[in-house]
Amino acid sequence: MNFSVVILAAGQGKRMCSDLPKVLHPLAGKPLLAHVLQTVENLKPSQILCVYGHGGTQVCEAFSEKSISWVHQTEQKGTGHAVAQTLSHIPDDHQVLVLYGDVPLIQTETLQNLINLSNDQNIAILTVTLENPTGYGRIIRNELKEIIQIIEEKDANERERQIKEGNSGILIAPALKLKTWLNNLKPNNAQSEYYLTDIIGMAVQENISILSTQPHDPEEVFGINDRLQLAYLERYFQKKQAEELMRKGVTLIDPNRLDIRGNVDVGRDILIDANVIFEGVIKIGNRVKIGAFCHFKDVSIGDDVEILPYSIFENATIEKNCKIGPFSRLRPETHLSENVHIGNFVELKKTTVAKNSKINHLSYVGDAQIGCDVNIGAGTITCNYDGANKHQTIIEDRVFVGSDTQLVAPVTIAEGTTIGAGSTITKDTLPNSLTLSRSPQKSIANWQRPVKKK
Ligand code: UD1
Ligand code: CA
Repeated sequence: MNFSVVILAAGQGKRMCSDLPKVLHPLAGKPLLAHVLQTVENLKPSQILCVYGHGGTQVCEAFSEKSISWVHQTEQKGTGHAVAQTLSHIPDDHQVLVLYGDVPLIQTETLQNLINLSNDQNIAILTVTLENPTGYGRIIRNELKEIIQIIEEKDANERERQIKEGNSGILIAPALKLKTWLNNLKPNNAQSEYYLTDIIGMAVQENISILSTQPHDPEEVFGINDRLQLAYLERYFQKKQAEELMRKGVTLIDPNRLDIRGNVDVGRDILIDANVIFEGVIKIGNRVKIGAFCHFKDVSIGDDVEILPYSIFENATIEKNCKIGPFSRLRPETHLSENVHIGNFVELKKTTVAKNSKINHLSYVGDAQIGCDVNIGAGTITCNYDGANKHQTIIEDRVFVGSDTQLVAPVTIAEGTTIGAGSTITKDTLPNSLTLSRSPQKSIANWQRPVKKK
């Protein structure tokens, strides 16, 4: 079956009180519309049409790399009017699946069920039964339980408002018939809008059957109109992701205090403490332990790594058996080989550290290559920036850097060098040397400290 997808995203989103178009607001780090698009792509439609209006080309530009036909709706005259704008782009023999850009969590499986119900002689709609269906159009069924009409809440009488089955807004209908029905819509209703939902009554008049299915979870069809609803769906989505991790064998100390804004690929027997955030693409090996309040963005972590609390990582690779934190910061292009230790208040940037090396306290190491079995003392700083350019520091295998050392790049610390504490190193060292720069210590005997004047 050939089908086109129409995504409605022209609404203003007034209640967001925002300069950002509603469908660009992020849920789990990704625009609402991106969630819908990702789901739609799984269905492999013939084409995707997106109706935009408020926020103008800002929405189109945010998705410029996607193959979407953008259709502008100059004035928001209702859902029926919005769909009508797309019909000249849709072949008569297509089925048309209508989705909303502000209903982000609709699942592929639910849409597939709906598509499976549909053919060119019927309409299939997704309905939802809710304890409190306020805001939804109500599904009117006859005594045979067949759907005969959808009545918008604002047009409904007291009895109709008691109905708990609501219209999700998502439906699939044959293009040729849709063209006729939409042509005949009249804005004779409480909102003076062209209601897409009015096609149901028209189809029933023509003896077209209206089939329906429901989503697995009602949240799949929850729309976002304000930031409270956005926060609600964010928590719902995060809970689902946390449950998925636990099913894969991850222990979460508190599943309510984990946030995933991207994809996390996990091994077995991982333990994650409270208030951890993952962004982008994350890979975590077996038996990894992650302490509280850590933040990760695009990070790969090998087996048996232990990360202590309050550590921050971006675009970093950590090989097996490393121990990091607390309070470590790994900035982009950091690569730690196996069994490396990084301790508190250590910042690394564009740095590779070979196996068994340690940087345990209070250091900045940037634009550096560190060999294996190196020990970097507390308070070591690579002076990598001269005010105009960045320079490399090379530290070869088995170097010992004494505490409070400045390494003025470009500089190479040759294999086996020992640097005396408190040195400022400006020249390359000799292998296996003791290198230090330090003014000689002097002592003045019986030194009298200054005293306060009376
Ligand atoms: C619509 C349905 C209602 C359903 C509810 C589910 C109609 C008439 N009503 O009502 O039965 O229960 O959704 O949430 O269809 N949009 C446009 N252009 C327009 C109007 C709307 O693109 O001219 C878009 C909006 O951006 C939004 C979606 O269509 O994404 C739904 O519009 P909205 O005004 O929120 O419809 P509801 O009144 O909630
Ligand atoms: Ca709505």
